Amino acid sequence: NTISELKVTWQTPSNIALVKYWGKSDPQIPKNASISFTLEHCHTVTSIDFIKAKRRELPKFDMYFEGKKNDDFKPKIATFFKRISQYCPYVFEYDMIIRSKNSFPHSSGIASSASGLSAIAMCLMSLEKALSLDNLNDQFFKQKASFLARLGSGSASRSIEGPLVVWGSHDEIKESSDLFGVPFNEEVAPIFKNYQDTILLVDKGEKQVSSTVGHNLMHDHPYAEQRFSQANENIKKLKQILINGDITSFIGLVESEALTLHAMMLTSDPYFILMKPNTLQIINEIWRYRKEQNSYICFTLDAGANVHVLYPEKEKEKVLQFIENQLSKYCQKNQYICDNTGFGARKI
Ligand code: PMV
Repeated sequence: NTISELKVTWQTPSNIALVKYWGKSDPQIPKNASISFTLEHCHTVTSIDFIKAKRRELPKFDMYFEGKKNDDFKPKIATFFKRISQYCPYVFEYDMIIRSKNSFPHSSGIASSASGLSAIAMCLMSLEKALSLDNLNDQFFKQKASFLARLGSGSASRSIEGPLVVWGSHDEIKESSDLFGVPFNEEVAPIFKNYQDTILLVDKGEKQVSSTVGHNLMHDHPYAEQRFSQANENIKKLKQILINGDITSFIGLVESEALTLHAMMLTSDPYFILMKPNTLQIINEIWRYRKEQNSYICFTLDAGANVHVLYPEKEKEKVLQFIENQLSKYCQKNQYICDNTGFGARKI
């Protein structure tokens, strides 16, 4: 098939890891398996205009972000295209105009790389599907999209499907792979369905240490091997927890994972701290509330100061009141984002 012009639009979400990915080898191969909740409201919408052109040496593209031409993201996307070009030779034959917008506030400290790169990957796969003579099936489409997204940002491989996705080869997870994310296909207990994630925006500034640098610091890290085997062990435990609905164990495992991720940062060489005083204030308030109210809320952290407050849907009303009354004061401009688990990429 030859296609002279094609415009496609995809919406893909952000995700929050329960068992964290921290440490990788080339090319974006994780040192341990990770699992995340796919989010629903925090997403990127990206459209790409593909215009057939003469074959070029390097992919040619323009980038518009929230309506304005934006060259800041160009280097990251150029590197991405370079990495994937051997799997998508058509990127040399089309000029691309990329238009992207996020549902969450700009520089809110919410990583946009997972949603941003998975959206571009889905758009590329739509072109590939249009070009392919044999009908490329849905599973291949999503797996290859996840494979491509992974080459842009590891965690982006977990943003194609939902509500739970595993990335990284693991004995206990059928079909799991280091190369792409796979949906967690077990029947999950009702308490974990439509799980809530309210993201408290503690610090919206640029991170002092990027996740690329953080991953690399795991190479000579004194606790690296211990950490990688702990994470794989935690995937095994979490699988049973999700099936059995053992929420008390869920809380213990998820909070420990968050603190361990940050413990790796505290103990690397050079060491660094991404949590802020308000991150710790919030954690202590969550512990107090959980005890006093017999609640099942817990927290997790990304590579930053923001706190993700996780809780079952049936606690929503009460927890949101607690957040508004007790926790929003620790957030920049009192801002937080209410989200819940979602189902992954959607064609628009
Ligand atoms: O996808 P990256 O390279 O930005 O790494 C993300 C790492 C964490 O967000 C800290 C953990 C994870 O598994 O998402």
